[in-house]
Amino acid sequence: MKRPVEVMIVFGTRPEAIKLCPLVLALSERPEDFRTTVCVTGQHREMLDQVLDVFDVEPEEDLDVMTEGQSLDGLTARALARTSEALDRHQPDWVIVQGDTTTSFVAALAAFYKKIPVAHVEAGLRTHQRYSPFPEEMNRRLISSIAHLHFAATPRARDNLVAEGIRDSDVFTTGNTVIDALLWVRARIREENRRFPELEGIDFTKRIVLVTGHRRENFGGGITGICEALKRVADRNPSVEIVYPVHRNPNVVAPVHRVLGDVPNVKLLPPLPYQAFIQLMDRSYCIVTDSGGIQEEAPSLNKPLLVTRESTERQEGVDAGTAVLVGTDASRIEAELDSLLDDDDRYASFASASNPYGDGNASRRIVDALLDSSSGKAERPE
Ligand code: UD1
Ligand code: UDP
Repeated sequence: MKRPVEVMIVFGTRPEAIKLCPLVLALSERPEDFRTTVCVTGQHREMLDQVLDVFDVEPEEDLDVMTEGQSLDGLTARALARTSEALDRHQPDWVIVQGDTTTSFVAALAAFYKKIPVAHVEAGLRTHQRYSPFPEEMNRRLISSIAHLHFAATPRARDNLVAEGIRDSDVFTTGNTVIDALLWVRARIREENRRFPELEGIDFTKRIVLVTGHRRENFGGGITGICEALKRVADRNPSVEIVYPVHRNPNVVAPVHRVLGDVPNVKLLPPLPYQAFIQLMDRSYCIVTDSGGIQEEAPSLNKPLLVTRESTERQEGVDAGTAVLVGTDASRIEAELDSLLDDDDRYASFASASNPYGDGNASRRIVDALLDSSSGKAERPE
């Protein structure tokens, strides 16, 4: 007799939650086909819980692995042991992971050890440089080796996978679920005419430069270079307000507050709830970031993007003209930011480019592909 396919979705950090909650919701609309268990590792705590609140998703498993200033090896060991136990408790037909975090890699490995097939959302991103970003480039390559199904957001990501020898029939080009999340949240903000207390101290009569940053390869000199550039731009442009929701990683908090803590037109905020952040993006003039997810969201909101990295796996935005790679050298960032603030034509060319990352229907496509690929698996004697 046909029974629903048992799916366990495992995630642990803010961006995974943003990109997988739309899929959780899409799966829950098909109870006759799927039974979904949400398992969070808790690799992030406050930043993860903020997202679960937005989408009203309640995990059945919370492995609570985060510790202050955690190391990669310690995190990996804790998450592997606890994910493995969760798999024993639920014995799903599929494990779904997203992206390239330690949680994603560990959950894929734990599933592999139990011979449970893995479906990988946002598969095929590559810089082709093993340490950039670190450890994400290696995490995603390893997940690709383990996964049975690969949901690539873009044709470029699909091509990367096929070039590595993955069977064409195991790869589905779906768009990125972050666009599903973004459009869902933006529609609600607009419908409800939401105002967020977290944004109240910001002077929106000024042009807002929104900043985020957290990449491990930028720790140390990289973050300091970015902050020095922001300080110089802020000092010279009192009519500009730099708004920086600071990631909770202690390696980020300390240097950011040291360089930017006392600059009057720089607002350092704690990480913002997703809806407030989207509204802030929407009301910003431009964005300076090393974030993966924000590189995908910004083009949908027509926001010019300076990417503070040496390489990106999201080259589509650079090719479309919505993003430019500026690295972490203070003079380069300062010059690029000046040009966006002073040169209207340059600004307009960035802001009018199109969004290459999705149309808001990625989750639906993933659900359909998963069901097709599961036929047969769901036939089990009672
Ligand atoms: C992680 C991911 C990275 C992803 C990023 C998204 C890994 C190795 N890194 O990096 O790929 O792009 O998340 O933000 O998987 N912390 C808190 N509260 C939180 C979250 C973090 O206090 O809610 C602090 C803790 O001290 C924690 C530290 O930040 O130990 C680092 O968190 P971790 O998940 O290891 O690394 P991220 O830099 O957040
Ligand atoms: N984001 C958020 N609040 C913030 C900063 C970012 O909700 O204060 C969202 C952002 O819209 C994007 C995601 O978090 O969807 C990106 O997360 P992050 O930059 O931490 O990780 P990455 O995408 O680089 O892995």
